[in-house]
Amino acid sequence: MLEETRQQPEALEKTLEAGLASLADLRRQFEVRRPRLVTLVARGTSDNAAQFGRYLIEITTRIPVSLAAPSVLTLYQCPLDLRDVLVVGISQSGESTDTNAVLEDARARGALTVGITNESESPMARIADFVIAARAGREESVAATKTYSCQLMALYLLAAALGGQVQVEILRRLPDWVQTVLELEERAGEIAERYTFMARAVAVGRGLNYANALELGLKLMETSYVVTERFSSADLMHGPIALIERHFPVFAFAPPGVTWPSTSAMLDRLEELKAETLVITDESNPEAAAKPARLIQLPIRCIAPEGPCDLYTPIPYIVPAQLFAAHLASIKGLNPDRPRTLQKVTLTK
Ligand code: F6R
Repeated sequence: MLEETRQQPEALEKTLEAGLASLADLRRQFEVRRPRLVTLVARGTSDNAAQFGRYLIEITTRIPVSLAAPSVLTLYQCPLDLRDVLVVGISQSGESTDTNAVLEDARARGALTVGITNESESPMARIADFVIAARAGREESVAATKTYSCQLMALYLLAAALGGQVQVEILRRLPDWVQTVLELEERAGEIAERYTFMARAVAVGRGLNYANALELGLKLMETSYVVTERFSSADLMHGPIALIERHFPVFAFAPPGVTWPSTSAMLDRLEELKAETLVITDESNPEAAAKPARLIQLPIRCIAPEGPCDLYTPIPYIVPAQLFAAHLASIKGLNPDRPRTLQKVTLTK
């Protein structure tokens, strides 16, 4: 898991360059058939990437996005009217059965389909009309890391193909930003030691970084068996905040921009409740660094020059979370590559 986390700069660069080479083709398709709605379908980490895709595509293209519930088709056997819909499957392995069933049915019903997968020979790659390849290289660890960030990169490319305001020059900076963030590994490991006996936690993020809260929670659950509830910082205030008591561990993504005021208010409330909060932010949000909480400050300034200023934060922000989770598992004497009772490919109906 750690090695694959460290491979992300190269994986991201390959995914970006390969994607850019085929972008014009996809863009032409969308010019001819502009979708009215985008539906994303995925499981696990790939579904967390889909959550990011929902915000990214809606913010940059204004096309509404929904996340599919595969059981509507696979169990309730209720196929949907998918005219003028773009259905996007996301799967590291390209083998997830229910994800592929939704994609296959969508294509048969005349929807345009795109697959985002790390495996170019997989069933998903064969089913979809178009493939945006995650070029992460084989992922051995059961806990996905580099394929998640490459899926986010592929989603930026998809948003660009849909006419969204995504700046390729900034995408090109992401591998270097991630390389710089990887220098935080020792600090993430030291911090993880303080959480050796953590049994439960809350992870929060808002907007584009909500997906990262979901993903950090999934990493903590599958590699360290920490029960982690995951919320948007707004949802946390609508009830679950009652969980929080003195020393309760909370992990908060705190980028600059439109989500900051509400994240800031949440951090103040957590401070009043004496929670044990770890804030992940970068150098462009000094207000977050000034909060009286434990801090991982990315040594970069990832402000977008155009559009919402947190637009390009999710890829660099997940890296310290992956490092933290991998180190925590090792400190606890667990093997994050082979979590108990899990296999790399899970098949569900
Ligand atoms: C978690 C993890 C799983 C997979 C899920 C979907 O680290 O790897 O949650 O993301 O089983 O698998 P794919 O992406 O192959 O469809």
